[in-house]
Parts: sequence; C-alpha cells; structure tokens
Amino acid sequence: MFALRAASKSTLVRGFASSARVDYKAVVLGAGGGIGQPLSLLMKENPKVTELALYDVRGAPGVAADVSHINTNSKVTGHAADDIAGALKGADVVIIPAGVPRKPGMTRDDLFNTNAGIVATLADAVAKNCPKALVGIISNPVNSTVPIFAEVLKKNGVYDPKRLFGVTTLDVVRASRFVSEIKGNNPKDVQVTVVGGHSGPTIVPLLSQTASSADIKGETYDKLVHRIQFGGDEVVKAKDGAGSATLSMAYAGARFAGALLRGLDGEAGVIEPTFVESPLFAGEGIVYFSSNVELGPEGVKTIHPLGKLTAEEETLLKACIPELKKNIDKGVAFVASS
Ligand code: NAD
Ligand code: LMR
Repeated sequence: MFALRAASKSTLVRGFASSARVDYKAVVLGAGGGIGQPLSLLMKENPKVTELALYDVRGAPGVAADVSHINTNSKVTGHAADDIAGALKGADVVIIPAGVPRKPGMTRDDLFNTNAGIVATLADAVAKNCPKALVGIISNPVNSTVPIFAEVLKKNGVYDPKRLFGVTTLDVVRASRFVSEIKGNNPKDVQVTVVGGHSGPTIVPLLSQTASSADIKGETYDKLVHRIQFGGDEVVKAKDGAGSATLSMAYAGARFAGALLRGLDGEAGVIEPTFVESPLFAGEGIVYFSSNVELGPEGVKTIHPLGKLTAEEETLLKACIPELKKNIDKGVAFVASS
C-alpha cells in the first residue's frame, strides 16, 4: 500500500523521466476559522495540491464540502474534532492557523495561555501521524508557539529542525505594500526582507537591502518601520473586537505554503523569510530566528545570514533580541513544565 502510493508519486514531466512529484497532500489545522477558511480556498487553487484535508474542532466538514465544489484538481476531505489522524496521515505540508486571535488592547503574548495548549496538542498529533511533514505555524504568539511545537516533537523523538517553520510572511507582505504606498511603485516589484520574530519590536525590516526602500530616511523611515512592526494592531483596532488579520494572513499563508511545495518539488532558488531553528544568534541563546531561508525537498536548505545592516537596523536588532529570547524561553518552559 505504502509502496504503491510512493510509486504513484513519480511521474513523467514534460516527456522526461523525473522524480519530481506533481501530487501533494496539504492539511489545514484550524480550517473553520477566520484565516482557515480563505486559506483553504487558496490552497484549493494551488495546482501542486492534489489532496487537501481540512480539520478543526468546529465546522471543518462544512468548509470542506463548500471548497470541494471548486473545479480544481484536488480532492478535499473534512475532518471533525475526533478525526485529526485522518486529516494528517500522509501529509506533506501542514499549515496551522488554529487558536484564538487578539482583541483591541491585547498583545500577542496575551494569547499564550490559550494557544500554547492548542498548539501542543496539535504538535503531538503531527508527531504521531505525519512526523516527516513540513509544518508552518501561524497561531500566535509565533515566537513562542514554534518553540512549543519543537519541544513536543522532541518529546516524541521526531523533531527535525529543517521541517518546522513559523509563518512570518504577513510581515513581508505588509512591508512590500507599505513601501509601495510611499514610492508609488508596484508592490510585486518590492521584496523586503523582514527578520527576527513576529511581534512588535521583534519584527525587524531590512529596508536598506531593497532598492525601492533604501533611500527612505528620517521621519518617513521611522513611521514606516513602526507601521511594519505594528501593522497587526491596525487591523485589530479596525475590526473592533471581531478578531485580527484573516484575509491578508490567508494570502500570506498560501504564499508560504506554496513556497514550501515549490521547495519540496525541487525548484531552485525558493527563498522566503521564516522563523526557524537558526544558528544566527544561537551564541546569544536565541535558538529560533527569522531570516531569508532557501527551501528545498527536505524543508530548510540554506539559512542566509542577515547581510550588511545600517546603524538604524542594528538598533532595531538590539531591541529585538531580548524580547525574542523571552518569548522563546517561555515556550520552551511551557512544555518542560507540562
Ligand atoms: P479564529 O478564531 O477565527 O479561528 C481559529 C480556529 O481555530 C477556529 O475555527 C477554532 O475552532 C480553531 N481551533 C481552536 N482550537 C483548535 C484545535 N485544538 N484544533 C483545531 N482547531 C482549533 O482565529 P483566526 O483569526 O483564524 O486566527 C487564528 C490564529 O492565527 C490566532 O492565534 C491569530 O493570532 C493568528 N494569526 C497569526 C498571524 C501571523 O502572521 N502569524 C496573522 C494573523 C493571525
Ligand atoms: C498580525 O500580524 O496581523 C497577526 O499576528 C495577528 C495579530 O494579532 O496582530
């Protein structure tokens, strides 16, 4: 059975014998939510996905029935609370937007008490059902939920640092859009590297490394950096108690999942900033850090260094480091004490 499935995944691509695959199983955990629903829709549109499994403790079968009518080439299955194993078996990529969102006045860290347990439970299920899958964590606070997920995988003896990612793509998407609003150019041509973590001062945009933003200085620079670091608050405030970013996050999550799939498929040069176990600041006790990462068939292929920073960026980085360390340590301690 296993051999048959593997064999069916080899194929002839444009007339050449190739080991490249064209069929992947993607799973969304938290598919019934504000992010989960549009993310599931966008995953249904990805031609590399031939099997899409949607799981939530509430509403996933309904979302699956709805999305399954879209006439793209994937089979969609819905999985209720008691069938996480059915959703995860055979998964290649798992994207996780499960957990509560912020309300006005809350920080992402205020979500820790609720979301830490949710993420730990899901990590245990991944460990038991698809330990080789590439996993992207959207659930906040990302700076802590990624370490929590890693620690649970370690407890199960299946942790592979190449396969676990915190999704920070929304910061990259926002940076691109906000720069283009200042410059009046097409955001598709503006690729800003954002490093560090995913909350306030831990979000460090490297605006000097992008031609369109390198000359932004003074008050405009300060306001732009603040907007990138606190863009999430803009949405939380505007939604006025109804949650946080969902549609832009679904867009960013689908972009990141697409990049993981392109890497799995052997495409060269797929690079996205993402929060992974990283050597860059390990000397300072920071085990996870977001920077440009090249993705490949095993997940992380190459972690790129930060490159040359301006004095302003060095200052931002200094503010990021202690906050990030606190968030990571909190996640690790949660699993150690549970
Ligand atoms: P939501 O409340 O609309 O949806 C969350 C979903 O998770 C719900 O459908 C809920 O039933 C489900 N859920 C809860 N516990 C679960 C479990 N144990 N297993 C499976 N599903 C479970 O919230 P949302 O707006 O979709 O946000 C989800 C998370 O994503 C929040 O933590 C939010 O802060 C985070 N977020 C992260 C980013 C980012 O950039 N990484 C961006 C936006 C939001
Ligand atoms: C965001 O950046 O929009 C998300 O992390 C959600 C939030 O709480 O701001």
